[in-house]
Amino acid sequence: MAETDKKTATKDPGRRPPAALDHSSESAIVTRRSFFSWLSFGWLAFIAATGGFFTMMLRFFFPNVLFEPEQTFRAGFPDDYVKGEVDLRWKDKFGVWMVRNDEGIYALSTVCTHLGCTPNWLSNERKFKCPCHGSGFQASGINFEGPAPRPLERYRIVLADDGQIIVDKTRKFQQEKGQWSDPEAFLKV
Ligand code: FES
Repeated sequence: MAETDKKTATKDPGRRPPAALDHSSESAIVTRRSFFSWLSFGWLAFIAATGGFFTMMLRFFFPNVLFEPEQTFRAGFPDDYVKGEVDLRWKDKFGVWMVRNDEGIYALSTVCTHLGCTPNWLSNERKFKCPCHGSGFQASGINFEGPAPRPLERYRIVLADDGQIIVDKTRKFQQEKGQWSDPEAFLKV
């Protein structure tokens, strides 16, 4: 040991060597760092939990509401429909085709009786063709090709006091059950 070190050790025996001091201050810094990272984590968790809580509260006050199209609607006057034509004006809004033949008018459902897709009216071929699996229906709604097991359904159709047509989708008529002969399944005009 050098002469100077010997003197220092003799003067201050409780003093730790410089290497020991460095190690302890380093671990103090590490402890402080990990404390702050845990604190940040805690804050983040708190903010996430609070955000989730307020989101739930908002959903409680503004629940999801499904606005379905009306089930009963006025479809104009019989003279608005041309004989021999399938009218598409209510297809998108109400899911109904109006068809007028020589005797009257009926309201056909646009739901394919296979798996529920919406067929298209092909006026040149005079048939409804389903894009999903190829079922075909005549203008009357009778199925004649593809996997659809039964005809399209018809909806209740009556005249209001003011002479307008009312289509009521809450009542359906199925051909295979003999319901198309019901007076409200077909509007004579
Ligand atoms: Fe129309 Fe399958 S859903 S043919």
